[in-house]
Formats: sequence, C-alpha cells, structure tokens
Amino acid sequence: MKFFVETFGCQMNEADGREMGRALLARGLIPADKPEEADCILVNTCAVRQHAEDKAASALGRLAAWRAADPSRILILAGCAAERWGQAVKRRFPYVDLVVGAKSLPNFDECLDGKLPRPVFDGPREEKDAWGHYSDERLLPGETLSAFVTVMRGCNYSCSYCIVPSVRGREVYRPAGSILSEVRRKAALGVKTIMLLGQTVNSYRPSDGGDISDFAGLLRAVSAVPGVERVEFMSAHPFYVNEAMVRAMADSEKVARWIHLPVQSGSDDVLKRMRRNYTRGDFLGKADLLRSAMPGIFVTTDFIVGFPGETEEDFQRTLSLFDEGGFNGAFVFKYSARPGTPSADWADDIPETIKEDRHARLLGAVMARSTRKAPAGLV
Ligand code: SAH
Ligand code: SF4
Ligand code: F3S
Repeated sequence: MKFFVETFGCQMNEADGREMGRALLARGLIPADKPEEADCILVNTCAVRQHAEDKAASALGRLAAWRAADPSRILILAGCAAERWGQAVKRRFPYVDLVVGAKSLPNFDECLDGKLPRPVFDGPREEKDAWGHYSDERLLPGETLSAFVTVMRGCNYSCSYCIVPSVRGREVYRPAGSILSEVRRKAALGVKTIMLLGQTVNSYRPSDGGDISDFAGLLRAVSAVPGVERVEFMSAHPFYVNEAMVRAMADSEKVARWIHLPVQSGSDDVLKRMRRNYTRGDFLGKADLLRSAMPGIFVTTDFIVGFPGETEEDFQRTLSLFDEGGFNGAFVFKYSARPGTPSADWADDIPETIKEDRHARLLGAVMARSTRKAPAGLV
C-alpha cells in the first residue's frame, strides 16, 4: 500500500506531516510520488488564515470521489484545521476514515492502531511521552540533505489575531537529549542541514535539568554534532533574541547567517493591540544586536496588513520599518479574522480593497528589495 502526505501551512506542520509519514512507513506503507498513486492520503491542514482552511477543505472535497471509488482506500485528516473544526468534521467530511487534530499528534500511533476512538480530538495527548515517536530512523524522500527537527510544540503567547495557541495548545519543550539524539541519527544518515522548529523556537528552555538550559545552549550543542554542516531555525520571536543567543549564533560558522524574525507591524499602536510584547524600537534594537555580531546577516520577516483599526499612518510606519529594518525579504499577509481569537471580537473594519492596496504596496517594496540572493532554505 502506498501513502501520500499533503501538508498545508508552516514548517512545523510539514515536520508533523513527515512524522506521521514515518508512522505509516513503520506499518509497511511506502511513499507514493504523487497522490494519484496512493491508496492512503493524509491531508495535514492549517488554520492560520481563512484562505488556508479553505484550501484544505477544497482538497478534502476533491478527495470525496477518490475515497468513494474504492472502499480499501484510507483518508486521514490531521493538523490545525482538523483540530479547530472538531466534531463538525463528521458532518462536513463524513467519508474521512481517521481524524487526528494537531494536539493529538503524539497519539498518532494509537490512532492508527485503533486504540483510540475515531475521530480523535481528546486523546491522552501530552501525558504520554510527546516525543517518543521521533525515534524512527528512516528518512523520507526529500530529507536526505536537509531535515527538520522539532524542539517544542504549542505556543504560550496570545497574539490577539492568532489561532495557533488554541489549536496547538501550551508550549511543551522537548528534552535536549531527545533533540540531540535525533540530530545525531540524521547526521549519521547523511543529513547536512538541520532546521530547528518551534512557534517561538528561541524561547526554548527545557525542564529536564540537563546541561542545556536555553536556545543558545541548544544551538551550540546542535552545531557541534559531527556531520552537521548548517543549522537553521524557525520561527524566532523578537522578544527572545538576546546576547546569549546572538553570541551562540556568531560563535558557530555552522549557524546560518539568516534569521526569520516576524515583526507583523511597524506601528507601536498596532503592535500593542496585536499583543506582540515588543515595540518597534525594541525590534530595531534586536536587529542591531544581530547585525553588529554578524554583519550582513539576512533578516526576513512577516507582516500583517489590514489589522482592525490600522490607519494609513500605521501602515506608513510599517512601510518605513521595512526600510529602516533593512530586511532581506518578507511575507505579507492580509489580516484574516479567526473565530475564537481576541481580535475576532473587534470589527474587521479595514475594507478588502484597502487590505488589497496595502498588501500590494508593501509587497511592491519587498519585491523591489529582494533582488539579492536568498540563503539556501529560505522559502
Ligand atoms: N509563531 C510565529 C508565527 C506563526 S503564524 C511568530 O509569532 O512569529 C505565521 C504568520 O502568519 C505570522 O507571522 C503572521 O504574519 C501570519 N498570521 C497569523 N495569524 C494571522 C491572521 N489571523 N491573519 C493574517 N495573518 C496571520
Ligand atoms: Fe501566534 Fe503569536 Fe504564538 Fe506566533 S507567537 S504562534 S503569532 S500566538
Ligand atoms: Fe497553520 Fe498550524 Fe502552522 S495553523 S501556520 S499549520 S501551526
């Protein structure tokens, strides 16, 4: 039997998709090159913006006929949108065989083996060793040179626009020993580039009492693993960029001279309502800290335009921050109200035409600047 994993959303979701793929490998399934060749399709969904959810829903819609054509086929629905949709999945996509919400990923094995009810929204989750399933040695296609290593799950922030904390839960840090053994195993299999993953990856602070107590320590330890040639990480949160982290980056030539540091807005007023925990000035200070230790470091970012109440002046501050921050690239997103988040209770008062216009203007500035070569791995 062949399987195909289709993942939407961020690198963390991509990494989860690969872990679930490994669980299927362990049960004797083999990877298909394309979905048309697969007998088992896993759709790993994202809920960060309405558009992401719509894409996942239409992929599932297209699979209805595929599933109906052969009763032996298996359709698995996983990830953040699956978590958010909850029991509604049964009604919307009744032909799905197994539903595993993002919070239940640590229980994917039990789900597959039928030891938990299907759909699964409330498995034992974190009570179980949330990292035990990362012991599978096999690499999947596409991982032979560069691999993801998840260092934390969930997010303890509560940015007012963001669905991630509710669909992924509170932060759980992976013990450093477990991270390092995965890095060693991957390096032994020939992987050269390791990308450490977490929603606020640089807030890493494990509680297992080992020698590694923070992200700086983790960076040093991962860089020292024989065979590792390049270490990247995603996503850093500006609040946790500090001297220790910057020194650990600068001290190792293996750590990429690239940081993805989402800023979201250049207006202090908007940042405050977004609950980002830093000001424009704080952010610029962190960028200076990075550049003074590593001149020429690539700094990329994310912006949201059209946040509730964003005035033209606020937007001008975002445009000017893009210049002042000297960014090498940026993703620009139009604000999308997510049900259940604090900002969803505020009027989504920026008309779509203005959102489009700000998106186009900021993207124009980004494109005009992004002529320099991007570092390997930057998407
Ligand atoms: N943990 C990361 C970001 C994760 S979500 C961080 O805090 O930096 C990835 C990006 O999606 C965010 O940086 C933000 O720019 C965007 N995003 C999140 N929620 C959004 C929403 N409701 N509408 C539009 N963009 C959003
Ligand atoms: Fe969302 Fe904020 Fe957490 Fe990033 S830090 S995942 S934007 S709540
Ligand atoms: Fe999307 Fe979940 Fe990532 S909502 S951005 S897949 S954490």
